[in-house]
This record gives sequence, C-alpha cells and structure tokens, in this order.
Amino acid sequence: MKTALITGASSGIGMELAKIHAAQGDSLVLVARNAQKLNELATELSGKHKIRVDVVAADLALENAARDVYNTVKQKNIQVDYLVNNAGFGDFNFLHETKWEKQAMMIDLNIRSLTHLTHLFLPEMVQRRSGKILNVASTAAFLPCPMMAVYGATKHYVLALSEAVANEVADKGITVTALCPGATTSGFQDAAEMRESGFMTNQKFATAQSVAAYAYKSMMRGKRVAIPGFINKLTAGIVRFTPRKMVTSIARKLVDRKK
Ligand SMILES: NC(=O)c1ccc[n+]([C@@H]2O[C@H](COP(=O)([O-])OP(=O)(O)OC[C@H]3O[C@@H](n4cnc5c(N)ncnc54)[C@H](OP(=O)(O)O)[C@@H]3O)[C@@H](O)[C@H]2O)c1
Repeated sequence: MKTALITGASSGIGMELAKIHAAQGDSLVLVARNAQKLNELATELSGKHKIRVDVVAADLALENAARDVYNTVKQKNIQVDYLVNNAGFGDFNFLHETKWEKQAMMIDLNIRSLTHLTHLFLPEMVQRRSGKILNVASTAAFLPCPMMAVYGATKHYVLALSEAVANEVADKGITVTALCPGATTSGFQDAAEMRESGFMTNQKFATAQSVAAYAYKSMMRGKRVAIPGFINKLTAGIVRFTPRKMVTSIARKLVDRKK
C-alpha cells in the first residue's frame, strides 16, 4: 500500500492524478484550498476503490502552510510514499500591468511551497531509501515567457530544482520527476485570466486526464524530465539550438492578445 500526497487535487491534472492513484487501490492525501471539492472527491474515491483518503485543506501560498500540512500528516500517522507537488497557477499580462499580490502569491505557491514540502518529506524518504516525488513544471520551463514572465520563471525553477535533487538522491532509492506539460484543458486558463491570449487558439490542448496518465507512468518509472506529447518534446529540443532572442519573440507571438 503506497500513499500519495497530491497538492492541487481539487481540479485539473491533480484531480486526475488522484483518480489514477486511487484506481491502484492505494491511499491518498488530497491538498488544496477548496475543502468542499476535496471532500467530494474523497467520498467518490474512497467509496469506489475502498481506500483511505484524507483531506487537508490549505492555502499553500501562506508562509507556514507546508509545515502545517506536514504536521497534520504526521499527527494522522500517515507515511507519504509519493509526494506530488502539482498546485500552481499563472497570470497573463505584461509584468508592469500585473498586480504584485498575485505575482507574490504565484512565487509563494509555485516555488516556495513546492520546495518546502520537498524539504519536509525528503529526509524520511532518504531514511527509508524509498520514495517518489513528482513536481509539476511546464513547457514554460524551457523558454522565456513574455506576458507570463513570472510564471515561466517559476517553472524554470521547478525544472532546475527537480533535476538537481534527482541527482542528489539517485543513489538513495528515490526518484524525482519534473512533469512539463504543454497546454492542457483545466482550471488553469481561468486562473491565469488568459481567455484573450492567442495561446487559447494557437495551441492544441491536451486533456488533464491524458497528461495525468503520462505523468503517473513517468513518476513510477522514475523518469527525470517528463514531457507529454510529441510537439512539446520537439519544442523543448528545438529551443536549445535556437537563438534565445528568437525563441522569446516566437513565444510572445504565440500568446499575444487576439486582435
Ligand atoms: N493547464 C495547463 O495548460 C498547464 C500547462 C503546464 C503546466 N501546468 C501546471 O499544472 C499544475 C496543475 O494545474 P492545472 O492545469 O491542473 O490547473 P487547475 O485546474 O487550475 O488546478 C490547480 C490546482 O492548484 C490548486 N491551488 C491553486 N492555488 C492554491 C493555493 N494557494 N494553495 C493550494 N492549492 C492551490 C487549485 O485548488 P484550489 O483552488 O482548491 O486551491 C487546483 O486544485 C500547475 O502547477 C500548472 O502550473 C498547467
């Protein structure tokens, strides 16, 4: 029996990952802000698969939230075998026109809470010489992202952190996987207020279900960088050999506001 703690499990990719893990007959800890959605999912999955599902409602952008989640899990005597740092959001606009509070919250969630949860759960995984971590980055991790500058930068961080830690713990029975999805249908587009972006029509969207299935398989195999979809893999490869300024201006064209 393996327990997965999944952040951002109330919607999109995180919710689909929870369904896949539950279907293996394994237990879950679901984390997000929306307690009602988490409780509904917990009732559905525990009823359907006869598994234990715990809900920890938390705003992970708050400074002490990761530690509070960790303490709650410890109090419940739950061993986390798989840590899935999936919660995250973006914001579509010129940096100088964005609200600082939203950028700060994004950095706190996408970077600080992901790092803190990893830092909290990793030592006991090292002690057990077993564990898996799945960190959700993005194809935005491979290129500068005008109009989503802070978001893109947070995902560069997630990719770099994951690859570095994967190297550190490779001989300790632990794997760290960075998932780098491209456009995926979920609550993301509304949260990022990107309905006016050309991104909505320029991109072929994957389903959260297919991305989660690929992500789960990649985590189980211990793949270090998991990029779902041929075009996304190709893009990640091509940008390495293309002048940075050109990559940045193509990225801008892809997301610019529809005229
Ligand atoms: N969709 C895409 O096109 C795409 C592409 C590349 C990467 N990604 C990444 O995929 C991950 C999952 O996003 P998604 O596409 O599934 O979007 P989503 O449907 O909006 O899901 C985001 C999840 O994060 C949770 N969350 C947001 N703010 C939170 C906070 N302060 N504290 C705790 N939980 C919070 C949300 O739950 P609550 O609102 O209940 O808190 C929700 O469960 C994100 O890291 C995103 O950056 C998405």
